[in-house]
Amino acid sequence: MRKHAIALGGAGLLLGVSLIATHAQTAGTAELPDPPEFAAQSEPVFVGVSDIQEYKALPEYHQPEWMDKFVADGKLPPVAERLPKEPLVFKTANMPDGIGVYGDVMRHVIGGRPEGWNYIGGQSQGWGGIDIGLSECLTRTGPLFEVKADELEPLPNLAKSWEWSEDGHELTMHLIEGAKWSDGDPFDADDVMFYWNDNVQDPNVSAVPSGTGTPERFGVGTTLEALDPYTIKWTFKEVRPTQYLYAMAYDSFCPGPSHLLKPQHPKYNTANTYDQYKNAFPPEYMNMPVMGAWVPVEYRPDDIIVMRRNPYYWKTDENGNQLPYLDELEYRLSTWADRDVQAVAGSGDFSNLEQAESYVEALKRSAEPTAPARLQFGARTIGYALRMNLSGNGWGEPDARGQAVRELNRQLDFRKAVSMAIDRQRLGDSLVRGPFTAIYPGGLYAGTTFYDKASTVYYGYDVAAANALLDGIGLTDTDGNGIRNFPAGTANGADVEITLLANTDYGTDTNLAEGVIAQMEPLGIRVIANFQAGTARDDMAQSGQFDWHVERQGAEMVAVVQSTTALAPTGPRTHTFHKAGTDGTVDLLPFEQDLVDDVNAFIVSADPAERAELMKKYQRTFTENVYSVGLTQYPGALIVNKRFANIPAGAPVFMFNWAEDNIIRERVFVPKDSQQAYELFPQTLPGAPGSAGPISE
Ligand code: GLA
Repeated sequence: MRKHAIALGGAGLLLGVSLIATHAQTAGTAELPDPPEFAAQSEPVFVGVSDIQEYKALPEYHQPEWMDKFVADGKLPPVAERLPKEPLVFKTANMPDGIGVYGDVMRHVIGGRPEGWNYIGGQSQGWGGIDIGLSECLTRTGPLFEVKADELEPLPNLAKSWEWSEDGHELTMHLIEGAKWSDGDPFDADDVMFYWNDNVQDPNVSAVPSGTGTPERFGVGTTLEALDPYTIKWTFKEVRPTQYLYAMAYDSFCPGPSHLLKPQHPKYNTANTYDQYKNAFPPEYMNMPVMGAWVPVEYRPDDIIVMRRNPYYWKTDENGNQLPYLDELEYRLSTWADRDVQAVAGSGDFSNLEQAESYVEALKRSAEPTAPARLQFGARTIGYALRMNLSGNGWGEPDARGQAVRELNRQLDFRKAVSMAIDRQRLGDSLVRGPFTAIYPGGLYAGTTFYDKASTVYYGYDVAAANALLDGIGLTDTDGNGIRNFPAGTANGADVEITLLANTDYGTDTNLAEGVIAQMEPLGIRVIANFQAGTARDDMAQSGQFDWHVERQGAEMVAVVQSTTALAPTGPRTHTFHKAGTDGTVDLLPFEQDLVDDVNAFIVSADPAERAELMKKYQRTFTENVYSVGLTQYPGALIVNKRFANIPAGAPVFMFNWAEDNIIRERVFVPKDSQQAYELFPQTLPGAPGSAGPISE
């Protein structure tokens, strides 16, 4: 068995003992305490990719019985005609509870709000896995938490197989044949090419809501072409960059329905602006065609989104039962904290427990024998950092004060001073006491595959030393008001005032940001909260309109192989806190060039030892230069109502992807005797695109 990608030693909720400093240290650095011991509560059963799924034709296919009437009435073709030639078939042996039954609903709760349904055009549906349920991507990585290390490669999905050319520059992918969108329109290379040519490649579109749909995500200079309706060919500058198979998964390569989107795109519809394209399918637009297992059929603002089963879904179990098993998915539009409360109480069905402030309560309630939900802690893969905007050449168009802050951000002694003024232990404890949070210096998370403690530089908490560093770079309090001033000639020598962006949708984000603000006071730096609700925060972060930003980090810091191009500014728009300025170039600091080189070398290397070494170098350069100021890292817990079956053991809240993908929802079911009458639109199916709601027989 492989060593788990996330290895957490020890047992029980015990406080660990930090090691005593034994080796010589670089100036200003401190001994990094080991994270308190905290055991992940269940382990995956490790398997190969082909143990999970295959593509094959089955002798017969089935659908929920209540759907027969739709077919009999001619509202729907027979199930065999709705499925592709060879559906994606999930293997029974890999299903924790085996073949399922139809019915029931998973009731989600989210804190986000839908902007609309044009996912590839950049609109968010409100997160919480709603987009994961709607979109399907060329490959899939969520379930990789249970794939053996020596077989680790993204799962085929819309791309059912692929092969590399001999010279390693070309990758030919075969798309699933005969699969259909939820309105019956064929899925083919047109959809793939529309995503690539007119969204990823079009600089006027910020493709996908996280903004990760950029050309460089797939390698600088990479091209894509369609050879026939079911064959596409990638050409890479690099040799055999298998790494990009991860970028073809959620969330950067999940095509949208070109038959609806294309007629709205300014390239094909000159009457439309890019704004009109992006907003052509507002939340009120129902029955947007999807490749995912459920289709949105009902939307009530600040209340609910209801999704019904996709009658054309292209995956089955080994008995030929068309998936999903769950007839409905609901998304209550509430708050993220309410997601935890409702999941624990049983009025909701699912939560990624990730806001540390609610851990103790949630644990207590879940430990009771009558608790309606299972709560299972995983590894410490939730982490926060203070990220400084490192663009000195205009990204986000800063004013004079903003520009002066950028110049500070770009100085090592400044970043070091900020890092040393942060009492990470206190920050973590302020969220939750106990063995959950760990001091996080920045870079890769302790306990993950590529983490190496010896390569991690930690500038410990030392306010006096931090102040001395700021004195040293000429930041003095010239007017005696307790706040240091910019050097004369910079921003009129005004007080150093820095705005700090954080997301108000999450208590943890603003709590940590407030902690940072308070801890900057003894440094004589005034930090001003710029707290914004999710969507506004996303927009400001993606367009560089921030000085500092406290945020929860992405998969690159956990899995490394996922979102790899986001580990450093490998392209003009791949990185979170350093994108290209007004002239289109990224003004890399010298150490950033090292990071870029190491990440690029990692992408093309197939040698595990070399890859490990490269990530050690990356970690040292990152932490030595305080690329971002790590704050805290802690484990998430998956809460799922006990009535659900086929929840894989050891499914993490976050690793290659979020738990909503990791648990393979299309395979999840509720045994007949546990089924509840929770469906809001029982025995209905999605209607025609744009029509008012679901249809009944
Ligand atoms: C939000 C939530 C996460 C997860 C993702 C899925 O970010 O905070 O727990 O549900 O959405 O996209």
